Amino acid sequence: MDHFQYRNGELSAESVPLARIAAEVGTPFYCYASATLERHYRVFAAAFEGLDAMVCYSVKANGNLAIIGTLARLGAGADVVSGGELKRAIAAGVPPDKIVFSGVGKSREELAAALTAGIMQINVESDAELELLSETAQRLRTNAPTAIRINPNVDAKTHAKITTGKGENKFGIDWRRAREVYRRAAGLPGIEIVGIAVHIGSQLTELEPYKEAYGRMRELVLALKADGHAIQRLDLGGGLGVPYASENDERPIPPPAKYGALVKESLGDLECRFILEPGRLIVGNAGVLVTRVLYVKEGESRTFVIVDAAMNDLIRPALYNAYHAIVPVQEPRPGTETLDVEVVGPICETGDTFGKNHRLPALHSGDLLAIRTAGAYGAVMASTYNGRPLVPEVLAKDDSFAVVRRRVSVEDAMQWESIPSWLDPQAKPKRKALT
Ligand code: LLP
Repeated sequence: MDHFQYRNGELSAESVPLARIAAEVGTPFYCYASATLERHYRVFAAAFEGLDAMVCYSVKANGNLAIIGTLARLGAGADVVSGGELKRAIAAGVPPDKIVFSGVGKSREELAAALTAGIMQINVESDAELELLSETAQRLRTNAPTAIRINPNVDAKTHAKITTGKGENKFGIDWRRAREVYRRAAGLPGIEIVGIAVHIGSQLTELEPYKEAYGRMRELVLALKADGHAIQRLDLGGGLGVPYASENDERPIPPPAKYGALVKESLGDLECRFILEPGRLIVGNAGVLVTRVLYVKEGESRTFVIVDAAMNDLIRPALYNAYHAIVPVQEPRPGTETLDVEVVGPICETGDTFGKNHRLPALHSGDLLAIRTAGAYGAVMASTYNGRPLVPEVLAKDDSFAVVRRRVSVEDAMQWESIPSWLDPQAKPKRKALT
């Protein structure tokens, strides 16, 4: 359930008509609903009631300060994967002792920044990283609160590009090596073992892969505890999927309560604190990308609706063949005939499409459309490809809204660049005359 519903014939974010925002900020823009963020956070957290559990929102899904800030105020911690996300989480008000840092390629500087900030936990993903962390902690005269991320070799049954827990993936340390690596870690100066971590993939639509992975984790936790390691925390990652299509044409995704029940059942007696890292589930359906129809064009075999948003703004359809529902902002009258169209952007690639076979009422230049479920992995994956500005992000609350990232204009983007002196006609030549 989200808070983008038709009110008086107008698709609205909470009580704010999207057309009103479009008139004020221009299109395209992302719009998020505070109430949906809050609802998803609460529903997810409630699924773990009775367990000592902590929800660390996965900042990679949407790193806007206003989104992180909304969740931080509800008590969320943060899962970060770079020094940049760490800065964002802290700036948005997440206490460092609620931050966990994952990722296969943390640099020396990033590890040092995490230790200096005093974050809760660093999830180490390789032997080489473990060594660098030990060295960095010693240099900073501190101890690194460390968990090892395990690769349980489980198929998450999701898109290949977002599967992370199979043996062939770059993530984590092979589960069969866990005891050996923990033994090594325990002997390294500056390393303080606090837990263990796993994350098998994203947009999971079944619980079975979790069950398999958590069964393996259970055995490992018991073995590691028996080996004398202080496994106080069990970080279970994120990944629970969200519905992208309309309610009636997709298999139901297990609700958070079922996932919570599975965690309790498979791991609840381990006397660990649980860390959960949901991203998409919190923010996916809390956002839409609003775009305006530029042209309707009859192609040879289909009708193209050319809109002002493009793959640089929302790359998921182009990158993962992801389906996002598209709806008109103006509510169609009951019984309005729909047509089969392909919604495309202005970028010079055939891959710049928001999907074929979308059924929409007859559209005209100037009409507004909302691309749904765009709150996660939308704005954060945007680029300026084709010289396009980064679109604004707007957060709605009740009957008001705020621009939480302004449009990053082409002029702004050009300021990041510079002309080398040999191309600058204004620069005086510094070399002597050749005569
Ligand atoms: N924890 C770790 C260690 C992760 O790698 C991820 C996502 C999460 C948590 C959050 O997963 P979520 O709950 O959001 O599924 N760009 C892709 C998704 C990439 C996910 C990467 N890791 C997409 O648009 O589908």
